[in-house]
Amino acid sequence: MTTNEVPKHVAIIMDGNGRWAREHNHKRTYGHYIGVDNVRNIAIKANELGIEVLTLYAFSTENWKRPLEEVNYLMSLPAMFFDKFMGELMEKGIRIQMIGEIDPFPENTKKVLLRAIERTRNNKNMTLVFAMNYGGRREIVRGINNYVEDVRNGKATEPLDEKTFEKYLFTAEYPPLDYLIRTSLDYRLSNFLLWQVSYAEMYFTDVHWPEFTPELFEKAIEEYQTRQRRFGGLK
Ligand code: FPP
Repeated sequence: MTTNEVPKHVAIIMDGNGRWAREHNHKRTYGHYIGVDNVRNIAIKANELGIEVLTLYAFSTENWKRPLEEVNYLMSLPAMFFDKFMGELMEKGIRIQMIGEIDPFPENTKKVLLRAIERTRNNKNMTLVFAMNYGGRREIVRGINNYVEDVRNGKATEPLDEKTFEKYLFTAEYPPLDYLIRTSLDYRLSNFLLWQVSYAEMYFTDVHWPEFTPELFEKAIEEYQTRQRRFGGLK
């Protein structure tokens, strides 16, 4: 039996902006620039398809290692995205959320992100989650520390189990991850959603993020619908 269902929670590792730019004789930053427009295109399509949560890996805890010029450019992308597309996000009822730790970000980047979250908070259709300064290992360690804190102050009294632990993750309020997509053909998780990926289906494509069109995204979703999900059982 295949799922036939639209996945509730889809996550994407949007890889290949740099390679796409190089192949078209552009600077790497131009690849990110085009990548921003594609975030809009895929989010609109995901909303149309009835996906509840779309989580996008926009900046990892490891991305700080890139040259300063590129890091600064990546920091300017949220403002670019919301300036261009906030109207449309409101019109389509898309809610913005974030996972990760944005404290180290420049003030303006933080402001722009928090304002977008605030402005869209009552939107009822899809939730678009940006993973920003996100790392899967760090998320797990942070969750453990927060649990230990709750034990210390008497808020947590029972031994930790998986269900309880999930409440300590950034993704606590979202449905379980169903489908992980990675563009640009690297077979790695790159520290993304390590806990959440346990029983997610995965999809890898050689297409670079700027060329991963809504049609290709829809194909990837159709592929999900042919998968058999057994969660370790025999169904
Ligand atoms: C990976 O490509 C992509 C990133 C590190 C950044 C992705 C960000 C966006 C697509 C836009 C985010 C939008 C908002 C609104 C925050 P790469 O540079 O690693 O490509 P490469 O592997 O080919 O070098």
